[in-house]
Amino acid sequence: MTNTPYLGTAVVTGASTGIGAIYADRLARRGYDLILVARGKDKLDALARRLSDETGRAVEVLAADLSDDADLRRVEAQLRQDASITLLVNNAGIGTHSTLLDSDVERMDKMVRLNVLAPTRLTYAIVPGMVARGKGAIINTASIVAIAPELLNGVYGGSKAFVLAFSTSLNHELADKGIRVQAVLPGATRTDFWELGGLPVENLPSEIVMPASEMVDAALAAFDAGERVTIPALNDVTLWQAYEAARNALKPHLSSQHPAPRFGVKTNA
Ligand SMILES: NC(=O)c1ccc[n+]([C@@H]2O[C@H](COP(=O)([O-])OP(=O)(O)OC[C@H]3O[C@@H](n4cnc5c(N)ncnc54)[C@H](OP(=O)(O)O)[C@@H]3O)[C@@H](O)[C@H]2O)c1
Repeated sequence: MTNTPYLGTAVVTGASTGIGAIYADRLARRGYDLILVARGKDKLDALARRLSDETGRAVEVLAADLSDDADLRRVEAQLRQDASITLLVNNAGIGTHSTLLDSDVERMDKMVRLNVLAPTRLTYAIVPGMVARGKGAIINTASIVAIAPELLNGVYGGSKAFVLAFSTSLNHELADKGIRVQAVLPGATRTDFWELGGLPVENLPSEIVMPASEMVDAALAAFDAGERVTIPALNDVTLWQAYEAARNALKPHLSSQHPAPRFGVKTNA
């Protein structure tokens, strides 16, 4: 039992194992009640029991397949009417390293529904209430493949680029409404993710694989510091700042009434 102040309810998707289970642990210790979402009810129940015993927080389990339309809508409906929610951690996700030619399109379809549609719909379900209450935060687990899609499967990279772009846009739209959004871009992290994607983590050079606990602790330290995009492995943060500066420098030049002269197109000017 801890004496931490009550911080409201945090929803953590993909909480049954890996990165999500660590988020659940850390957030309960910080003072959040929890709603834990994933398919594996037994693992969620065991985690909920442990965390409520150790922290005294209320921990609810919502067993759901977030790639399934009916399950996703059931979770949305429950979360939409829960005014205690102050934090949404969109973390559930699957990925793989396989190329288009070696990938099953049905698995890609499921990946897009889980990695893209589920965080989108859960955000739409929860944000209006947060805005009405004038406070709230969202943590979206993206990946370094959001900016380096050549590293793994292209649909996975595209799904995480969506998460990064969506987070960037949400920050732009919601910052003045009291809502904070953080996109976390982990590099290789030691979880079941790799085995489930067909490449056990032991196949990666150990010097690029971070323990999930260190990854989450770094991401939460960055969240506390108000970072909007966090790359836990990145030592030289000026590299990210230069990337963002280059992106921002492009913005005034991206739309024009005529194509650029280098294309040689005869214009109507
Ligand atoms: N591990 C890495 O190297 C790495 C790097 C960058 C980003 N990420 C991202 O980090 C997030 C967490 O991954 P992880 O590494 O912790 O992997 P993990 O250990 O495999 O955990 C994935 C979590 O998502 C849940 N999940 C999977 N399919 C689901 C579904 N259809 N409906 C609901 N929940 C589902 C799993 O629970 P159930 O199986 O019980 O449903 C589990 O709790 C993912 O978004 C992943 O893309 C991971």
